[in-house]
Amino acid sequence: MLSVMGIENMITRPPRVPLIAPSILSADFANLGAECNAAMHAGADLLHLDVMDGHFVPNLTMGPDLCRALRNALPDACLDVHLMVTDPGQYLDAFAGAGANHLTFHIETEPEPARLAAEIHAAGMTAGLAISPPTDVAAIMPHLSRFDLVLIMSVNPGYAGQAFIPAMLDKARAVAPKLRRDQRMEIDGGVNAETAPLCREAGCDVLVAASAVFRTDDYAEAIAALRGEAAVGRRSA
Ligand code: DX5
Ligand code: ZN
Repeated sequence: MLSVMGIENMITRPPRVPLIAPSILSADFANLGAECNAAMHAGADLLHLDVMDGHFVPNLTMGPDLCRALRNALPDACLDVHLMVTDPGQYLDAFAGAGANHLTFHIETEPEPARLAAEIHAAGMTAGLAISPPTDVAAIMPHLSRFDLVLIMSVNPGYAGQAFIPAMLDKARAVAPKLRRDQRMEIDGGVNAETAPLCREAGCDVLVAASAVFRTDDYAEAIAALRGEAAVGRRSA
């Protein structure tokens, strides 16, 4: 088993500045190690792994073996695993053993979110609760206190490159005042330089982006733009 002891979990690390989490779903899979290294060197705080099972969502993507390979290749990276699967508890031990730092599952998939959050914590990871666009925000409200992170989906889960759904910001605004200072709110789907400021204003402090990082020529510039900053050493046109 790969231990994540000693690897800094950015989700719980102060100070509470917004974190950027490139989703490797839009990376070049044939060069994944190099792509992840490039993203980390460009200023990524986390690497976001989108795990899809072809049941909860129509797509098939990556599993624990890929997580383990990235852990071995990037020993210091904080690996943020987003489970879009019908039975998330089935994969908890596999991802813990593969070196994941953080595991998020969907409210739509788990009848006992508090129990699964406790199991994720017992396995040495931080826990996240995700909500898909059609689900009413009331569904997650009773469970917030058990989680280190809440994930607001701003597209229907399944694919990178979809358009941001602005109405999902209302969910973020409803959740933000309910969170403790040690909890984070992540937003995922259609986040780019134009939508990121809206997300930050709505209280989101972990921004996931696949296309807006990996489908660009300059990852550092893309990540800085998501933070609302100019890239350090940015080239003039
Ligand atoms: C969608 C995934 C997202 C996706 C985001 O189901 O959860 O993480 O990769 O892709 P972009 O940033 O391109 O919308
Ligand atoms: Zn995701």
